Amino acid sequence: MAVAEAEVIAAPPVFAATDYHVATSKDGVALDVKDFNLWYGASQALHGVSMPIQKGVVTALIGPSGCGKSTLLRCMNRMNDLIDNLRIQGTMTLDGRDIYAPNIDVIGLRKRMGMVFQKPNPFPMSIAENVVYPLKVDGVTDKALLAETVERSLRGAALWNEVKDRLKESALGLSGGQQQRLCIARAIAGDPEVLLMDEPCSALDPIATAKIEELIDQLRGQYTIVIVTHNMQQASRVSVNTAFMYLGRLIEYGETKRIFTNPVAKRTQDYITGRFG
Ligand SMILES: Nc1ncnc2c1ncn2[C@@H]1O[C@H](COP(=O)(O)OP(=O)(O)OP(=O)(O)O)[C@@H](O)[C@H]1O
Ligand SMILES: [Mg+2]
Repeated sequence: MAVAEAEVIAAPPVFAATDYHVATSKDGVALDVKDFNLWYGASQALHGVSMPIQKGVVTALIGPSGCGKSTLLRCMNRMNDLIDNLRIQGTMTLDGRDIYAPNIDVIGLRKRMGMVFQKPNPFPMSIAENVVYPLKVDGVTDKALLAETVERSLRGAALWNEVKDRLKESALGLSGGQQQRLCIARAIAGDPEVLLMDEPCSALDPIATAKIEELIDQLRGQYTIVIVTHNMQQASRVSVNTAFMYLGRLIEYGETKRIFTNPVAKRTQDYITGRFG
């Protein structure tokens, strides 16, 4: 381990410095992560992460590759459950309820948290069937309700006008950007409270990226959105709060405007100015 890495691991959690957390002292926390640790086998990937996530706003997660962004995001809707040898410690709550309580309905929890991945992952079925897939799994058969959900979700994902005449065609025939908006439509079809997005634009060209960013702008307020991004401009354009992670720790967390203009931690400064990462 490099000396610089050892310094970070040995450093006390920055959460103690209240100055780091201006943005989140406000009321209305949707997701609350407290002193969260995670191990993949013997290797610790998250170290004492404490991060209250504000309701109804966009929070960006940034940091160099391997710092634990996806790991943290996947914990929020328990996507990590299937990984062998995974151990966690600490708490995560959604609206005050423990996400890891033994009696929690995990399927129900995932419905409250739509997830969008780096690569668009439409199912090999029609556009309309993709959108209502979560409802169908739930046993919804009401045709009018399904049709209404298709239109509402596709409009919500800014895709309706492009696909309204081809709803029965395969989703695999859409462009990458359209497929990603379809995945967002599918993620919002079940009316979740939270949208978790893991680098949703990294496979897209600048025009498709701009469309997704516009869409995020329209969705905020309605949903609590957590977005992982490697793109600093994107983080500063779309988010209200930004969390900077490094080597599995939350180094700095606060209002995006401040993080990008006046970061407290030197490592944040180095990262956002492109000195490493
Ligand atoms: N399933 C797994 N088993 C073992 N180790 C894992 C697993 N998934 C992730 N890791 C390790 O945990 C650490 C954090 O990985 P993670 O994918 O969360 O990083 P990230 O910040 O999302 O990186 P990137 O920006 O490259 O996507 C890395 O060291 C990674 O190798
Ligand atoms: Mg990742």
